[in-house]
Amino acid sequence: MSKIKLDAGDEVAASKFIVANTKLMSPPLVPEIVLHLAEESMPIWQKSEDELGEMNVPPPYWAFAWAGGQALARYLLDHPDICQNKRVLDLGAGSGLTAIAACRTGARDVLAADIDELALAACRANARANSVQFSTTRDDLLARPIDRFGVLLVGDLFYERTLADQVIATIDAAKALGAVVLIGDPQRSYFPRDRFTRLADYQVPVTRDLEDSEIKRTTVWLA
Ligand SMILES: C[S@@+](CC[C@H](N)C(=O)[O-])C[C@H]1O[C@@H](n2cnc3c(N)ncnc32)[C@H](O)[C@@H]1O
Repeated sequence: MSKIKLDAGDEVAASKFIVANTKLMSPPLVPEIVLHLAEESMPIWQKSEDELGEMNVPPPYWAFAWAGGQALARYLLDHPDICQNKRVLDLGAGSGLTAIAACRTGARDVLAADIDELALAACRANARANSVQFSTTRDDLLARPIDRFGVLLVGDLFYERTLADQVIATIDAAKALGAVVLIGDPQRSYFPRDRFTRLADYQVPVTRDLEDSEIKRTTVWLA
């Protein structure tokens, strides 16, 4: 495979990298959505480091449908009233899986936020693949006061302590502004389970070499 040079903000190069290193597939729990996903974790992780590493490109989280995101997308698709006609924020969107589920269930407008430019390019590619439209932002929404949203979606963001603390503060702020906040989480290390109300449990098939297991018990919570 030829080497792709990615300049920051270069949508064409980003799309090429995404298409060259992924396959359009459905996440196991969400067969009605297709995503550009890596077939195995190591090659794309290695490629991201080799080809993009010198530019400080973060790990390719966007190339996987994480357990939290799969459970949350499943829950939204099975409860289509939640996002109906609402303004929705998908925080730490990764592939954009839950943003797509929100669009599919009639959200008025959807914003996918991620600090990784390549993730946002993946969101846009995945939106096209599913014939939906949503906006993307690279602004770090965890670092400033949150806007008013009807629904805040948090898929699998409790894997690092600092990130988890920021996400909890943002959840509290969004709730104070009246948002419905839904979280998908497979009991990551920094998930504060006592704060939230359990809505549904799923057995989510995941990538064994990422998760060290083939199924992750994952819960959708209401904050
Ligand atoms: C484990 S992935 C989850 C992706 C998706 N929500 C899912 O469930 O499949 C975490 C994502 O959060 C993003 N992220 C990390 N820190 C962030 C921040 N401060 N603001 C927005 N996104 C962030 C990462 O770039 C990555 O795409």
